[in-house]
Amino acid sequence: MKFDTPATNNPIDQLKVIGQPISRIDGPLKTTGTAPYAYDRNDVVANQAYGYILGAGIAKGRITSFNLSAAKAYPGVITIVTHQNAGKLSKGKYNTAFLLGGPEIQHYHQAIAIVVAETFEQARAAAHLIQVKYERTKGYYDLDSQRSKSIPKDDMGMPGDSAVGNFDAAFLASSIKMDATYSTSHESHSMMEPHATIAAWDGGQLTLWTSNQMIDWAVGDMAKTLGIPKEKVRVISPYIGGGFGGKLFLRSDALMAALASKAAQRPVKVTLQRALIPNNTTHRSATIQRIRIGAEKDGLITAIGHESWSGNLPDGGPEAGAFQTRSLYAGANRMTSNRLSNLDLPEANAMRAPNEASGLAALEVAMDEMAEKLGMDPIEFRIKNDTQVVPDSPSKSEPAKLKSKKSEDKEQHPPFSLRQLVKCFQVGSEHFGWNKRKAKPGERREGRWLIGLGVASAYRDNVVTKSAARVRLDKRGYLTVETDMTDIGTGSYTIIAQTAAEMMGVPLAKVNVRLGDSNFPVSSGSGGQWGGNSSTSGVYAACVKLREAIAQKANFPIGDAVFADEKISNKSQSLTLAELAGNQGIAAEDMIEFSGLDKKYKQSTFGAHFVEVAVDAYTGETRIRRMLAVCAAGRILNPKTAHSQVIGAMTMGVGAALMESLEVDKRYGYFVNHDLAGYEIPVHADIPHQEVIFLEETDPVSSPMKAKGVGELGICGVAAAVSNAVYNATGVRVRDYPVTLDKLI
Ligand code: MOS
Repeated sequence: MKFDTPATNNPIDQLKVIGQPISRIDGPLKTTGTAPYAYDRNDVVANQAYGYILGAGIAKGRITSFNLSAAKAYPGVITIVTHQNAGKLSKGKYNTAFLLGGPEIQHYHQAIAIVVAETFEQARAAAHLIQVKYERTKGYYDLDSQRSKSIPKDDMGMPGDSAVGNFDAAFLASSIKMDATYSTSHESHSMMEPHATIAAWDGGQLTLWTSNQMIDWAVGDMAKTLGIPKEKVRVISPYIGGGFGGKLFLRSDALMAALASKAAQRPVKVTLQRALIPNNTTHRSATIQRIRIGAEKDGLITAIGHESWSGNLPDGGPEAGAFQTRSLYAGANRMTSNRLSNLDLPEANAMRAPNEASGLAALEVAMDEMAEKLGMDPIEFRIKNDTQVVPDSPSKSEPAKLKSKKSEDKEQHPPFSLRQLVKCFQVGSEHFGWNKRKAKPGERREGRWLIGLGVASAYRDNVVTKSAARVRLDKRGYLTVETDMTDIGTGSYTIIAQTAAEMMGVPLAKVNVRLGDSNFPVSSGSGGQWGGNSSTSGVYAACVKLREAIAQKANFPIGDAVFADEKISNKSQSLTLAELAGNQGIAAEDMIEFSGLDKKYKQSTFGAHFVEVAVDAYTGETRIRRMLAVCAAGRILNPKTAHSQVIGAMTMGVGAALMESLEVDKRYGYFVNHDLAGYEIPVHADIPHQEVIFLEETDPVSSPMKAKGVGELGICGVAAAVSNAVYNATGVRVRDYPVTLDKLI
């Protein structure tokens, strides 16, 4: 099904099942420990051996020799794979570094060997007996010192730089100016379930039980890396204990398990030990961001400039902190630049709301600083500069395809399909009690605690991507939906079941959803907050086809057929779906393809974050007291799962604001605090109170579901709202994240 004109009324609009706060179908499995995660799958294949990965002990250089003899002689050891016996490997499309290093080492803890043994303990003990000699070469590990060597870098099909009008002249001429530089830290996804894989070969056929957000990417990259056809690789990943972008791509657990299994000639299971993950896998790059805003005294922005620097290995992409500044606020003169420096740290890549999470952490503090200079309320200042069209020049910033031939005006400034940012602030300030905020910082005190309120805009683009599904009706009237979509803890099982139930008029209990298997039709996968809307649209398309097939079998014109109560009916008669299905059943498969609309309109999601903090006047300790997010993100398919997504993202935003930071050893080029003991993330006691309000919205431009992404919107702007609240409490402006107590005193 092509989606190329705005959605009209369709069966989803009945909202009998869609839009209901249904609890997650996989919830009981996960909370009782019975959901079969990759590493737990002792049942799927017999005779599993254990693999243990050894990570490189240097960040850059080469291996000059391996001494494996002690490891090989260790009890229970079956085989050891290194670059010397792995055979020829290619780099996958989505990897920046090779997943198996050697002799060249590209980053610290890059996998260099896997030991296979009868038990995990034997494999681990033997791995520690491997002796490696290295020749270290000079690497670069400090973003700030490499900034001068940065270049503008495209990302996600968007150019690194953009310019409209004359920023420099307008900034110089503006009555009120702000110019400040901010920094964000390297961050680690810290998902609960570590990367893990069981690999088994059957002749030339490889099967992987693994934990991966994007099944088809994993299949493609495994095939490419090993140099075998895609058809020879099957990836199975029905349950995933969190990903946050860290499992978008094939990682070393999967490749090393595949190589080890081939060498050992038996199935091998591998999990990345927690202390290997931050340096072996991917992280969110630190950024340095300079923001300049010029405005007139009435608060109208006349010039806005945002430069963002980040670092990555050669071939890697930037953390493009300036992207949202092209679309969020009005202003005739604009300049953005996303610059990238080569660093020899581990690979930087997507982590929840890549680009915007970091970009808004800086921009939304800059907006707070500017509002103060203008003597304006920070919400008023944002509302004053709202825009219903993309203010940046599409030819320079957004995809060139946005250009429409119709009118000059449209060509320059494509409209947002739907933008209710102002309403988010209005609803939120009323609900949160924003009027209690004292404009002057440091004015509200309760005993030893200084109290402050902060806000920030949330903004994240809504990406849509093709997605296929298969739906089958059986003789008992049950529906089975199959798609390679993943559920990373987000609720995919549930919203997909809701979609099929709504479309076919069957109860939710009679819908069976099967996900995460490359034998199923290729879906959008889970990433970039595109999964919920795109994958349910694919299920919608398949259900439209199934409705047609059933109507045809019933000999009803599809135009006046109604699907409800497990029946197909028209004015004169009714037939049960079960009897029509017969012994054979009826099946249909289709794919939603988005063509055109996503280019005519700018599709984005919006929100407003409100935070109250208390800061200890003596120690500088910051405690979050209350958080509120108001979100405008299209139709909410399931308010319960969406709420969980947003509060999870808000929690992650508190981490970025107050504690999360991978600390770099600038001499040796590695993240020092590379485990959950040293890398601090929020716990329950850090998050006492959260609320989420979803604005009533349906966006007919986004999909037949009229929904949008929301899983990443929730983190966007949170760090700035916290930081602004800390400023309001204390009068201390911290521009370097995380806002730890040492920076407040
Ligand atoms: Mo997301 S960072 O694309 O899983």
